[in-house]
Formats: sequence, structure tokens, C-alpha cells
Amino acid sequence: MTTCAGKPVLVTGASKGIGRAIALRLGAAGFSVTVHYGRDKVGAEAVVAEIRTGNGTADIIDFDIANRAETREALERRTGEAYWGVVANAGITRDNAFPAIDGDAWDAVLHTNLDGLYNVLHPLVMPMIRRRDGGRIVTMSSVSGLIGNRGQVNYSASKAGIIGATKALAIELAKRNITVNCIAPGIIETAMTEGVPEEVTSAIPMRRVGKPEEVASLAAFLFSDDAAYITRQVISVNGGLC
Ligand SMILES: NC(=O)c1ccc[n+]([C@@H]2O[C@H](COP(=O)([O-])OP(=O)(O)OC[C@H]3O[C@@H](n4cnc5c(N)ncnc54)[C@H](OP(=O)(O)O)[C@@H]3O)[C@@H](O)[C@H]2O)c1
Repeated sequence: MTTCAGKPVLVTGASKGIGRAIALRLGAAGFSVTVHYGRDKVGAEAVVAEIRTGNGTADIIDFDIANRAETREALERRTGEAYWGVVANAGITRDNAFPAIDGDAWDAVLHTNLDGLYNVLHPLVMPMIRRRDGGRIVTMSSVSGLIGNRGQVNYSASKAGIIGATKALAIELAKRNITVNCIAPGIIETAMTEGVPEEVTSAIPMRRVGKPEEVASLAAFLFSDDAAYITRQVISVNGGLC
């Protein structure tokens, strides 16, 4: 499906959850995967080991995506080929009713999710262009960024911002054959959504939460040759939630 053998790709937030599933899937597809983590070194090392066990190629990198200088320094320190693909997946929630969202909760979510997108992509885009062999960028929004969600004013703002940034960047990079698309998951079973109450699940038309692998399969498709003409799109994986 993809002429990807050995192409270097970065997946942020790959120590667990959706990012882990995407890193494993891209590793199995033949990409050389850089597994990024923030704090969970053990989780990230396990992902690298699993990719290598399947005869794939993987290395590891860590930085706090909310810290611009640290992120740039870590990405510039990395030697080797420029990335052909990036999945900007890492993100956080700090949920609360709006009156209870203090400045710290607002800043943490915006700095991590939205500034983090800039912090990761800005050092990588020019080297991607200079490769002159196209490329793929996939960003991670949420249904909260599409339709908003109670208790997630900060998160919804950050995820809506990611959609705007994705669409604008897609236009800029289209003539370089670098596609830029956004995945907007619904409720996916990860550490982020632990303890989802029954009434939330029953509001999903398919009556179940999604699996990280069901998001990873879309990311893998967007990284394939078959998706070469798909750009500037937001694709939701949500069991019919919206
Ligand atoms: N789960 C859902 O239902 C759902 C729905 C819609 C959208 N999403 C989005 O999908 C993405 C992945 O979510 P998930 O559910 O897989 O979350 P998760 O299981 O909590 O994993 C989050 C990942 O992001 C990394 N991360 C968070 N803040 C970071 C920082 N400041 N610096 C570096 N890495 C950081 C974490 O790294 P460490 O653990 O190593 O620190 C971890 O690998 C997020 O962008 C989330 O908003 C999730």
C-alpha cells in the first residue's frame, strides 16, 4: 500500500494511548518511527521494543512539547535524515466547568495542545520541504474541537485552533506534495478517558467507545500512497457521535 520502506516519521505522545497505536501501526508498515514521549520513558521504550520485535525500525526522543526551546533543541540535536512524516498527537485535558477553569488550566491546555503543535512542526517543516519527496503531516484534534463539549472550553479552544492551523498549513505545503490532515477522534479508550460514565457511552450512536487502533488505522491510511491527494481535511473517528 505504501512505498515507505525506511522513511523516517515522528509520532509525538507515543508512549501510550492513541500515539502508541499509531507508532506501532506505522512501524509495522515499514516506516522508521521516532517514538516521542514526555514523562513516560518506560512506556515509550516498550513501544520501541515492540516495533523492533516485529522487525521494524524505531528510535526514541523526549521533550516537553509545551517548552518551545526544549522542543527545538531536541529536534535539532537529532541526527539523520529529515522526517518525511509527522503525527502531532501529544495532548492533554484539564476539564472543568468554565467558571472553575483558572488561568493555569487554560494556559496548560493551550500551551501544550496548540503552542505544542507550533513548537513541534516549526523546526521540522523546512527540512521536510528540502527532502523534495513529498510528505505527510497528521494533527490530532477532537470532536470537542468540532462541536465543543461541556467542561472542555479550554480543550475545545485548543482543538479548534489545531483545525485552523492544519487547514492553513495544508494550503502552504500542497505544492510540495506534503499533505496536512487532521484526525478528530470521538471518545477513545485511553488513560485520558478513564472512567467514562455510562450515559456518555450511551450517547454514542454505536454504543461503545473507540479503540486506539481504530484511530491508528486512519493515520496509517493517511500516510499511505493511496492518500496522496487527500489534504486539508478533518476526518472524525467517532462511532457517529457527530
Ligand atoms: N482519548 C480520547 O478519547 C481522545 C479523543 C479526542 C482526541 N484525543 C487526542 O488524541 C491525542 C492522544 O490522546 P490519548 O487519549 O492517547 O492521551 P494519553 O493516553 O493521555 O496520552 C497522551 C500522550 O501525550 C503525551 N504528552 C502530553 N503532554 C505532553 C507534553 N507536554 N510533552 C510531551 N508529551 C506530552 C504523553 O506523554 P507522556 O505520558 O510520556 O508524558 C502521552 O504520550 C491527544 O491530542 C488527545 O487530545 C483523544
